[in-house]
Amino acid sequence: MGRVTAFWENTAQTPLQIVEDPFFIERGITLYFKRDDLIHPYVSGNKWRKLKYNLFEAEKKGFTTLLTFGGAYSNHIAATAAAGQATGFDTIGIIRGDELRADANPTLRFASQCGMKLLFVSREEYRDKEKLAQLVGEGCYIIPEGGSNALAVQGVAEVVAEIQSQLNRPVDYLCTALGTGGTAAGLLSASEAKVLVFPSLKIKGEEAKQMILQHLSVLEIKAEIMTDYHFGGYGKVKDELWKFIEQFETQINIPLEQVYTGKMMFGIYDLVKKGFFKQGDILVALHTGGLQGKTK
Ligand SMILES: Cc1ncc(COP(=O)(O)O)c(C=O)c1O
Repeated sequence: MGRVTAFWENTAQTPLQIVEDPFFIERGITLYFKRDDLIHPYVSGNKWRKLKYNLFEAEKKGFTTLLTFGGAYSNHIAATAAAGQATGFDTIGIIRGDELRADANPTLRFASQCGMKLLFVSREEYRDKEKLAQLVGEGCYIIPEGGSNALAVQGVAEVVAEIQSQLNRPVDYLCTALGTGGTAAGLLSASEAKVLVFPSLKIKGEEAKQMILQHLSVLEIKAEIMTDYHFGGYGKVKDELWKFIEQFETQINIPLEQVYTGKMMFGIYDLVKKGFFKQGDILVALHTGGLQGKTK
């Protein structure tokens, strides 16, 4: 058995945990949290799902180096570095920001300690990823920013069957955060349920749909995009969000972070308050991990 197969076969199903809050019970709504944050200490959440078939493919095709892209705090960079180290690939991360260094923050330090070679490029250079891949990526297996591609979609799709086997009743809404759209595409590719998408960036609903659609071979999707929960934009946080995260963690005892899952969960509570769901609805929110990037 190859190292990649051994790494990915060695996992149990993640818990589908009910969010025990009277707030939901009083309104007749059931919310489950699919705890993919517990899947692996360093390759957690949607990263586990998205990298799986990419690394299978890289191994099958005989690549020895993975090359990918990300910002200074990218969960995907950290996860690719860890997955590469665990499965015997060399890794290269092209990082947005030529003012940065490998010890600039815990994410980059971690990636570097996993053996990832970090190349820092200006924001302008970063925009042309194809050119960067041509310049430094010869012979490398290239994984796009955020890890989102068709093989990532295939990996994320597996969580749907896992949820169905754990729940044994139909889900009304599947909820996920959105960064590059690969995770939402994976859920949509495999689910009958409505998918509620919470962009962590300031973006119009139609733009988010296009981001998702580029990973799918369909023309339309059954997704509703909730654009009001970005808190000022990607990576932006407000006191109200920190307060919500703290309260949720104290009461429910499940960790959230401020870039993706905190914003999504804030949005779910807010939609419940506003009467978006009906009594009896079953919701499943995907915990996409990202806790390595938590700053408080
Ligand atoms: C923790 C976490 N949640 C959600 C997302 C959003 O996923 P996607 O980029 O597939 O939309 C990301 C980014 O990849 C992430 O790191």
